[in-house]
Amino acid sequence: MIEPISGFSKLQKQEKISWLAQTYLKDFPEASNILEQYWNPKEKLQQLHEEFTENTISNYYLPFGIAPNFLINGERYAIPMAIEESSVIAAASKAAKFWGENGGFQAKVINTQKIGQVHFIFEGNPEKLRRFFDQVKSTLLSSVSHLTKNMEKRGGGILDIELKDKSEALKNYFQLHCTFETKDSMGANFINTCLEKFAETLKSEASKYTEFAPEEKDLEIVMSILSNYVPECLVRAEVSCPIENLNSPEMSGAAFAEKFVRAIKIAEIEKYRAVTHNKGIMNGIDAVVLATGNDFRAIEAGIHAYASKDGNYTSLTHASVENGIFKFWMEIPLALGTVGGLTSLHPLSKVALEILQKPSAQDLMKIVAVAGLAQNYAAVKSLITTGIQQGHMKMHLMNILNQMNASREEKAALVAHFKTNTVTHRAVEEALQNLRNS
Ligand code: MEV
Repeated sequence: MIEPISGFSKLQKQEKISWLAQTYLKDFPEASNILEQYWNPKEKLQQLHEEFTENTISNYYLPFGIAPNFLINGERYAIPMAIEESSVIAAASKAAKFWGENGGFQAKVINTQKIGQVHFIFEGNPEKLRRFFDQVKSTLLSSVSHLTKNMEKRGGGILDIELKDKSEALKNYFQLHCTFETKDSMGANFINTCLEKFAETLKSEASKYTEFAPEEKDLEIVMSILSNYVPECLVRAEVSCPIENLNSPEMSGAAFAEKFVRAIKIAEIEKYRAVTHNKGIMNGIDAVVLATGNDFRAIEAGIHAYASKDGNYTSLTHASVENGIFKFWMEIPLALGTVGGLTSLHPLSKVALEILQKPSAQDLMKIVAVAGLAQNYAAVKSLITTGIQQGHMKMHLMNILNQMNASREEKAALVAHFKTNTVTHRAVEEALQNLRNS
């Protein structure tokens, strides 16, 4: 067994790679070179990336692409997307083009509240705790006034603190359930700093509260942390058009709309389908969230929790046909920022936000929701017509050719060949072999 290493974080980058090479990469001697190839030759830029996290040994690139022609509330956007999955950007662009010619996307922010909680244990009389809370609430708020001053100037701050009794679910468990408005910042640091201060104040005030018995004075803080479940930070995106606009040479608009609505219904009632359906939505959402320097793990966690808010995991999108009008929409929670954090540190995030014309957090919520809706439209459209593999494999062709070390000329010849032939791994292998033999 390999011995544990101590002091790894103190080693230089090159030393870390040498240790890996000797310890785990003996069968892959090119690995060190590959890691070094991905270092940025511009020293300052490399340093910036290394300072984002600990123990950095290289950079991990993802394609940074653009889906143009999105018409959102009458404004035209080119949406930057960071994603490795072939066909996602092509699909988004196609959906953007179609809906751009059919009224565009409508998007609106429903609300923007974020939540944080102080979880604590109180071994005593809940009624006394309630009286104590009512009395210290203003002290809790004033204890963070130095932290909230700037946020208040920007129109944000703490909206409320509630005491919640959760002791039926877990013995002696209570919460301060706090609501925040963080304007254009995602607000994680702001919220967590306020919560830790609330916790400290709560504990010290409890220790001085004369109505508490000695054991009640020793209130125990378990943890103070924001919640990534943000059902009150909600945005809606929608498209609609007369069903005739969905006509195609293969199918009438009415037939297409009927198939589409049924496919969405399946995702609404069938969990196995719902997860994949929503994964397709996240293809669009994560790509924009990542490109703009936001936290895609937080977004994923919040959205999937929202998809099961009524107790059953279900589709995030919905569709209907009424009076000859096809309508397709989605409401999702999105806690995003356009200032602070990585958004202002990563040079590519800054470029992404500039491409999006310096959006506010609310603007970005609308853009991201639209990217998700567009992605889902494209995926479901393919699924109910040609099937997903046709488009996917065409885009995947380049990945297969790269895997097979095809030259530039070979790639050009095979892309032309597969315009009229079905792409499978085997077919590409054979076609490349034939080309090389000829
Ligand atoms: C693949 O990344 C996403 C899809 O599976 C989504 C869907 O099935 O709706 C195509």
